[in-house]
Amino acid sequence: MKNIVILISGRGSNMEAIVKACAGEGWPARIAAVISNRPDAGGLAFAQAHGIDTAVVDHKAFGKGDAARAAFDAELQRVIDGFSPDLVVLAGFMRILTPGFTGHYAGRMLNIHPSLLPAFPGLHTHQRAIESGCRAAGATVHFVTAELDHGPIVAQAVVPVLDGDDESALAGRVLKLEHRMYPSAVRWFVEDRLVIEGTRVLHRAGETQLFV
Ligand code: GAR
Repeated sequence: MKNIVILISGRGSNMEAIVKACAGEGWPARIAAVISNRPDAGGLAFAQAHGIDTAVVDHKAFGKGDAARAAFDAELQRVIDGFSPDLVVLAGFMRILTPGFTGHYAGRMLNIHPSLLPAFPGLHTHQRAIESGCRAAGATVHFVTAELDHGPIVAQAVVPVLDGDDESALAGRVLKLEHRMYPSAVRWFVEDRLVIEGTRVLHRAGETQLFV
C-alpha cells in the first residue's frame, strides 16, 4: 500500500479526481494527506469530508525573499514527510520550489501543468497559446525537477484550440482531460508501471501516454 500526499493551492478538482479514482478503482494506495499553502483553498473541505487528513502550511507566514522561501519549503517538507509519502502529487500547487525540496522528492513527485510542455512553462498558459495562434493546447504530467515546469514527461493531453476560444473556454476543455490523465498517471506510478529512461518516461506495458 503506497502513501500519496497531494498538494493544492485552490479548487482542487484534480485532487478530487485522484481521490475518487483511488477509492473507486481500488488502487494499491491511500491518500495519506492533502496539504495546502493557502488556508482558504476550496479543496480542503472536499478532503475533510472524505476523511482525509489535511494540513495547511501558509507561505504568507514566512515572509518574502530567498531565506523565507527556503524556510517555507523546509517546513512543508517536514509536514509532508510526517505522512511517510511514497509519492507527492502537485495538483494546482502554485509555488516555485527550491532545488533542495525538489531534490528530496526526486523520482517521487509529479506535477500537472496546463500546457503541452516544453511550450509555455509558467503562468497564463491558455491565454498565451491562444495569442500564439496555436491550433492545439493541452496539459502535461511530469516528474518534478529543479527547473520550473520541466522534468521527464509521463503523459500529455491534447485538445484543439477553436476559433473564438477565450482563456476560460480553452481551460475548461483542457481540464476535462486533466481529470482523466492525472488519475491514470498517478495510478501508473503506484502500480510501478513507469520507468524513467533519461529524459523519457515509458509505460512498462506500453499503455498510451497520450490523452485526446
Ligand atoms: C489545473 O488546470 C492545473 O493544470 C493547473 O492549475 C489548475 C488547478 O486546478 N496547474 C498549474 O497551473 C501549475 N503550474 P484544480 O485546483 O481544480 O486541480
